[in-house]
Amino acid sequence: MIYLASDHAGYALKEELKKWLERAKKPYTDLTPELVEGDDYPDSAKLLAEALKTDSKGRGVALCGTGVGMSIALNRYKWVRAVLSTKREVVRLSRQHNNSNVLCLSGRFVTYKKAIALTKVFLATPFSDDQRHVRRIEKLT
Ligand code: RB5
Repeated sequence: MIYLASDHAGYALKEELKKWLERAKKPYTDLTPELVEGDDYPDSAKLLAEALKTDSKGRGVALCGTGVGMSIALNRYKWVRAVLSTKREVVRLSRQHNNSNVLCLSGRFVTYKKAIALTKVFLATPFSDDQRHVRRIEKLT
C-alpha cells in the first residue's frame, strides 16, 4: 500500500498527487485527508511511521513545506528510510541501495510535474538486494 501524509504546507501537492495515483490506478491510503491550518509535521510523520510499522512492505510519500521536517521526523523511526531529493537519479539510487520506503516532497518548492516524476521513480524501482546493501541497511538498526 502507498501511504500519503502531509502537514498544511504539503496538503495541496498531496491532493494533486492523489489525482495522479487515481489515474494511474495505484491504490493509496491518505493518512491526513483534512487540511488543518498550522498543524505540525511531526504529527503527520508519526501517522505514516506507524502505518509502515504495521505494513512492512508499504511505501510512503510525505509532504511538508520543504520536505525537510518530514524527513527529519521520519528518519527517527528505525524502520523508516526516508529520502528527500529533487533528483530522480538520487531517488532511484535510494531505492536500489538504501531500500528507501518513504519519499519526502516539498509542497512549496517542487512542481506537480516534478513530484509525479519523482514518485514514479520511487514506486517503480526495486531494492537491489545486493548483499553489501543488505549489510549496510542492517547496520542502521
Ligand atoms: C510549515 O510552515 C513548515 O515549516 C513545514 O511544513 C516544513 O517545511 C518544515 O520542515
